Amino acid sequence: MTTWTRKDLLGLRDLSKEELELILETAESFKEISLRPIKKVPALRGKTVVNFFFEASTRTRTSFEISAKRLSADIINISSPTTSVIKGESLLDTVRNLLSLKVDIVIIRHSDSGAPQLIADRFPDVSVINAGDGSHEHPTQALLDLYTIKEKKGTVAGLNIAIVGDIMHSRVARSNIWGMTRLGANVTVVGPRTLIPADIDKTGVRVETNLSRGIKDADVIYMLRIQNERLKSNLFPSIREYARMYGLNGVRLKGAKKDVIIMHPGPINRGVEISSEVADGPYSVILDQVTNGLAVRMAVLFLVAGVKKSVKELEEE
Ligand code: CP
Repeated sequence: MTTWTRKDLLGLRDLSKEELELILETAESFKEISLRPIKKVPALRGKTVVNFFFEASTRTRTSFEISAKRLSADIINISSPTTSVIKGESLLDTVRNLLSLKVDIVIIRHSDSGAPQLIADRFPDVSVINAGDGSHEHPTQALLDLYTIKEKKGTVAGLNIAIVGDIMHSRVARSNIWGMTRLGANVTVVGPRTLIPADIDKTGVRVETNLSRGIKDADVIYMLRIQNERLKSNLFPSIREYARMYGLNGVRLKGAKKDVIIMHPGPINRGVEISSEVADGPYSVILDQVTNGLAVRMAVLFLVAGVKKSVKELEEE
């Protein structure tokens, strides 16, 4: 089994198949902790984690906070409107000051692609976890997605996975494409041409512009939200038109495989990319994704912290 040697988790693009599998196996060992009456292990006792969010978040921020607490770390939540960033302090100066407070791990979400990499490169003594940077990567989302697929389907290798929607602006799509293809899935991206990057086929995915054709043979259908906050111009006629062409509803789902699973990273725009009937229906694993985020983020925190002992050894001390 491979060992973890990285100080940071910045994206899935550079991770090997073995590193991806190590994270998923480590997550598996953490899953049962959240089912215990006392949901806490002493794995990160004495470590300080900063949850630093420059963009809105419900799932990722909360999931990292709960994960850190379940590992017995001290965690501080900071969001940009409450920091001196609004007084003009730069990102690097902000982090420089935080590190003077002897922080061990910085989790960062930022609208600029590359912000986590910049911090990781400048500050060698702190571990950096990317919680979503611009339209670049959202590695822990993709890891919890891979974990959920493996949990529901037994494997990722050989599965047909359709990722549907705004591929162009989606960091979730990018991280998932790297992770899914590296673990051996056949990935098809489905959406209007204007929302699919021109060079996407270089990543080894197939492109399909028709939703019914794109989902017909899929074992997994992964729906994406339109990233309105990142759209710089009108790339499709209207939301109503988009929903008509690319929205997943009960009628469309009849053309999919009988054992298909439906995924979505959240937040959902009901009635746009997915109907309530599908989001809340029997094929949906959307809330399982959220639950699995805990085990996956506990695993990532544990690995980047470089803990040398197993959780069992730490509990016996
Ligand atoms: N999936 C995801 O990143 O959700 P949040 O924006 O709520 O964190």
